[in-house]
Amino acid sequence: MLYIGIDLGTSAVKLLLMDAAGNIKNTATKEYPLEFPRPGWSQQNPEDWKKAVLEGIPELLRGFDGADVAGIGCGGQMHGLVVLDKDDHVIRPAILWNDGRTAKQVDYLNNVIGKDKLSRWTANIAFAGFTAPKILWLRENEPENFAKIAKIMLPKDYVNYILTGVHSCDYSDASGMLLLDVEHKRWSREMLDICGVSESQMPKLFESYECIGTVKPEIARLLGIPETVKVCAGAGDNAAAAVGTGVVGEGGCNISLGTSGTVFISSEKFGVDKFNALHAFAHADGGYHLMGCMLSAASCNKWLMEDIFRTSDYAAEQAPITDDKLGENHVYFLPYLMGERSPINDTNARGTLIGMTMDTTRADLTQAVLEGVAFAIRDSVEVARSLGVAINSSKICGGGARSPLWKRIMANVLNMELQSAASEQGPGMGGAMLAMVACGEYASVKDACAAIVRVASTVKPEPALAAKYEKRYQQFRKIYPACKELFADIH
Ligand code: XUL
Repeated sequence: MLYIGIDLGTSAVKLLLMDAAGNIKNTATKEYPLEFPRPGWSQQNPEDWKKAVLEGIPELLRGFDGADVAGIGCGGQMHGLVVLDKDDHVIRPAILWNDGRTAKQVDYLNNVIGKDKLSRWTANIAFAGFTAPKILWLRENEPENFAKIAKIMLPKDYVNYILTGVHSCDYSDASGMLLLDVEHKRWSREMLDICGVSESQMPKLFESYECIGTVKPEIARLLGIPETVKVCAGAGDNAAAAVGTGVVGEGGCNISLGTSGTVFISSEKFGVDKFNALHAFAHADGGYHLMGCMLSAASCNKWLMEDIFRTSDYAAEQAPITDDKLGENHVYFLPYLMGERSPINDTNARGTLIGMTMDTTRADLTQAVLEGVAFAIRDSVEVARSLGVAINSSKICGGGARSPLWKRIMANVLNMELQSAASEQGPGMGGAMLAMVACGEYASVKDACAAIVRVASTVKPEPALAAKYEKRYQQFRKIYPACKELFADIH
């Protein structure tokens, strides 16, 4: 049988077709626009996701027999606020995970309601991208839209709704709403009250690998697949990526270099970061995880290449960054183009290049961007280490992981071994694997990982280079504190 994995990303939906042994039979990508209506705001139209998925699946299945498809699973960009009216029509564009408009609501939640209470009710504190502050923003700024809300959903849940007609959400993605009691896996009455919404406005909760329903007959006809095709609840893209790279159970680590950059640490037991810098969320395997999320990772490189240098030839820009240049760059980049979440939680933070001299080259700037992202990922790794989590190696996935140079820089900045699977498409693979469990192909997510995930390549740190990068990291760490006050004034 065949399984469709959907990675509902920020720049595109990436689809993959997999057999039960984990062989990727085909892939398809459909891009959609991203709006930045004001600095720090980020929105997308859910209708664009729908169109991309419904056009992308027939393209994915071209040359294959749709009758062989058994299941569909989606990993999606997290935290986005999708609001539907009583007729299930989208009320306004979705406010995305990297949107920073909710500074005031975050301040209210963290400082008036209080971090202690939030952490007790939901295992997390408020961050600008989380869903609850966005609901408060909507109530305050668009009361007419707030009054129309019949259902609140997350991005991939809207896709699942289009496929099945069922309003669902899984625990991993629901964790990022700040509305879920993560430990007990139920909606938090206190947080729903604070946001002025009722449980009937929330979707039904499932484990990621549970079946929420089968595709609607008209969708089955449109996509050329049987009406018996099962759709699983799916997961937040980071939890799905962790499944796709085999990071399940106790103590695994996955780093994703996508639009966002994340460090994902899986655990069988529920645990909270006492510093509240890392998120404490449910995992798609039925367990839990801690996660640090930086808002702009591969997107910083994309910005420099495409918007500033006006090129799409990333490899050509990286070619002059030869061995002798590594660990020697005195240009630094703070990758805070959308403000930052983990670990600094500062919507005012901004992208910063510092340390240029007359002989600074275009390649030095490229290198600074790659290194700045690696240093900022290390900031989250350091928080995890300070909690006593031993991270000595990690899986790595996401578009940025396609660059051998970037992986080498990452391995040396983090001073750890990084392992890649055959495909960097973690969330799509994870989505397809969750669908396999929902269809009974494997008894558990762990079993699916054991049967399917293989390490294809490994990058090891080089002691001399790691030592150089250690010094550079210690310098990088001083830059944000020195700029912090200034950022609050620069608008
Ligand atoms: C995680 C997060 C991002 C998005 C990106 O908390 O906000 O990784 O899920 O798609």
